[in-house]
Amino acid sequence: METQILKADDHAISLAADLLRKGSLVSFPTETVYGLGADATDKHAVLSIFAAKGRPADNPLIVHIHDRSQLKEICSVPASAFPLMDAFWPGPLTILFDKSPAVPDEVTAGLPTVAVRMPSHPVALALLRQCGLPVAAPSANSSGRPSPTLASHVYEDLKGKIPLILDGGPCKVGLESTVLDLGRDDPTILRPGGVTKEMLESVLHRKVCLAGSILRPLGENEKALSPGMKYKHYAPAATVILVDGPEKAVLAKLRELYEKESMSGRKSCVLCFSEHMHLLQDCSPHDIGSMKHTEETAHRLFSTLRRLDEEGMECVFSEVVPPEGVGLAVMNRLGRAAAFRTVHA
Ligand code: TXA
Ligand code: MG
Repeated sequence: METQILKADDHAISLAADLLRKGSLVSFPTETVYGLGADATDKHAVLSIFAAKGRPADNPLIVHIHDRSQLKEICSVPASAFPLMDAFWPGPLTILFDKSPAVPDEVTAGLPTVAVRMPSHPVALALLRQCGLPVAAPSANSSGRPSPTLASHVYEDLKGKIPLILDGGPCKVGLESTVLDLGRDDPTILRPGGVTKEMLESVLHRKVCLAGSILRPLGENEKALSPGMKYKHYAPAATVILVDGPEKAVLAKLRELYEKESMSGRKSCVLCFSEHMHLLQDCSPHDIGSMKHTEETAHRLFSTLRRLDEEGMECVFSEVVPPEGVGLAVMNRLGRAAAFRTVHA
């Protein structure tokens, strides 16, 4: 199959909507990452998502809608969800709801809940409106690779496997949506993202919990609250090691680790803040954005991880951000890329 990349203008969006209505796959931009969409009510279309990505069948998909009137078709909505939808939809918040029979079990991997979100990207909204369907869409990477934040990332992973990629330029947030479970004693974040714990608490006026494995590996007998969290993910081919501690000590440790690995002939680099680039200029530094703007680090993270593979890196040493606000999502993804290996400087 030939894979077309088209600039996401009106013509391309209607072509994409037709493809979705015919049961085909389309990759489209959202404000978080590029998605790989299919008609969420068509189980054959949904199964072809799993095939194209090489995704394990027990990892459920997020259903995307453009209008709340679509909810009644796919799920039941508790009262507690309304203030959240008012505050954060359209936007990078996914909420779990009890699913209705109209949603095939292939979408939810047999779970009784369905994850739903309304993206804010104008191309995603236009596509959802035009096809008139709820659209199941995971991130458009092949399983195990960092999520795509550019149309060219999708092409790298899925060329020959899908007919169309709508190119809407770089994704603004750069990390996947926050996944929230309201069906527990306390609302619980299963995956941190652009809508932060602090933002959720300010709307719900109550404590929001974090799933245990957000900043550490899943224990051997521990069940993942969100099936996606149990898979190796966001991992470049290189061994990634995080370095935390006081700024000066971190910089010295990054240099020490880099020099040691380079001397033994392994291709190495450091990931550091813009402010530290000149201090680490002989350590093959890669800029992860300003330490004052964690949003920038979020925005760049996945393309940086992809670049490490392109460059054939074997050892990567990275600075860390405080796990607050969007920093929690950054540290979840970076932590998983590093299998949570951390050196304290
Ligand atoms: O920002 C995003 O959410 C992007 C864009 C395309 O919308 N989508 C995305 O989908 O990241 P995906 O499939 O890569 O990640 C979905 C996550 C997985 O970790 C999955 O396990 C979890 O959501 N999930 C989906 N349905 C669930 C359910 N019913 N219960 C628990 N976790 C669920
Ligand atoms: Mg994904």
